[in-house]
Amino acid sequence: MIKKGIILAGGMGTRMSPLTKAVNKQLLPIYDKPLIFYPLSILMLSKIKDILIIVNKGQLEQYKRLIPNGKNLGIKITYIEQDKPRGLPDAFILGKDFIKNESVALILGDNFFYGQSLSKMLFDCVKIKTGAKIILHKVINPENFGVALTRGKKIISIKEKPKKFLSDLAITGLYFFDNKVVKYASKLKPSKRKELEIVDLLNEYRKKNKLTAEFIGRGGAWLDTGSIEDFYKTSNFVSAIENQQGLKIACLEEIAMLNKWIKKKEVNNAIKFYGNCEYSKYLKKLI
Ligand code: TTP
Repeated sequence: MIKKGIILAGGMGTRMSPLTKAVNKQLLPIYDKPLIFYPLSILMLSKIKDILIIVNKGQLEQYKRLIPNGKNLGIKITYIEQDKPRGLPDAFILGKDFIKNESVALILGDNFFYGQSLSKMLFDCVKIKTGAKIILHKVINPENFGVALTRGKKIISIKEKPKKFLSDLAITGLYFFDNKVVKYASKLKPSKRKELEIVDLLNEYRKKNKLTAEFIGRGGAWLDTGSIEDFYKTSNFVSAIENQQGLKIACLEEIAMLNKWIKKKEVNNAIKFYGNCEYSKYLKKLI
């Protein structure tokens, strides 16, 4: 069982400037809550309680004001700063002491997942004992993503932003790795754009026949909120679902209660912490 997870929540957010000049992208709102709540909820739905959040240098205090330590969620949050965006595999270099000799999940701070059988799929993912697992989702513009060619659940080939069609299955920002990831990441060399590349890391596993996939089917949604257009699309999606069902997506305290990690007392603490707002009203209804 994978018990540790990393959220990569730094980055420059260049595509969303000027919104991201003073505030980190992951602290901006997706409808009624900060973006970071969504990837955090995914790790919590995976039953992962020990979580490292990697943030930009100088932005730690802002994050701690929002999520101080995870106590009210029944989880443990640790923070670490990244002094500049060195690429996604840097998570395993910075996170070496956090990971120790265990397996680990990685989610990008700007990735949004939603769907009926999501929890079940996540539960299958954290069960992996060796190798690595990626989550794939069909897209109409594969040339804009890292994509994977599959045979059943095995990955045959992967390519970053392919000019020639390889597959329409995009590699989403949620990954599950055995402990070898720490060693593999430390051996990577920066690419032409001077970053460590996740595709290079995944290829280490693929070459050894150790890379498998799970799929988000047509009942599920994956949205990468990297551009302003995608940001608003995701906000509208959350608003439509929440206002129709009356159920919130990524209400962290609700998930913690469902997982039996917290009780009424912690939810009451959370209500005090958030203050008089719609989110608190929802929490009140839960208890
Ligand atoms: P990107 O989308 O590659 O970068 P970005 O969010 O800074 O956006 P832009 O391209 O507009 O400048 O990053 C994906 C996610 O990973 C995002 O949530 C930021 C995070 N990230 C880090 O925390 N550290 C890194 O070194 C990199 C490359 C990304």
